[in-house]
Amino acid sequence: MKKAVIYASTTGNTEAMANAVAEGVKSCGAELLMSTASDANVSDVLACDVIILGSPAMGDEVLEDSMEEFYTNLEGGLSGKKVAVFGSYDWGDGQWLRTWVERLSASGATVVNGEGLKVQLAPDEAALAECKSLGETA
Ligand SMILES: Cc1cc2nc3c(=O)[nH]c(=O)nc-3n(C[C@H](O)[C@H](O)[C@H](O)COP(=O)(O)O)c2cc1C
Repeated sequence: MKKAVIYASTTGNTEAMANAVAEGVKSCGAELLMSTASDANVSDVLACDVIILGSPAMGDEVLEDSMEEFYTNLEGGLSGKKVAVFGSYDWGDGQWLRTWVERLSASGATVVNGEGLKVQLAPDEAALAECKSLGETA
């Protein structure tokens, strides 16, 4: 079992979530492919059994630029893949993550963590535990 954790982060909040997700992946014995969106390779990621993607809410409820670019390249290969999403936000209500889940469903992916895991600003201990659990169970 191999799980990819691919994320973008501008001030470290989604990165902190990604690190906890990665910890969960390793603790459940799965192989881990971890990368920022700007360094990630589409075919390597599509070769994984589970793809866990993280992006903060940016612009007006959209993905961070490097994740938008990576995701646009990934999207066409996602049919039948298991995908989970997470990210940090601040003043919104999570619309960026709902839109992402809709895009994933439209691409034929199976979203394995419901509406996605969102955390306001920096994750606290409880949020980090949720992230770790996502890495274990996704
Ligand atoms: C340019 C900019 C746009 C943002 N747009 C949104 C937004 O649309 N909705 C929201 O809830 N938060 C928005 N935020 C807040 C970020 O999502 C929040 O600060 C988040 O913790 C950043 O995570 P990161 O450190 O992983 O980049 C925005 C922040 C910036 C700087």
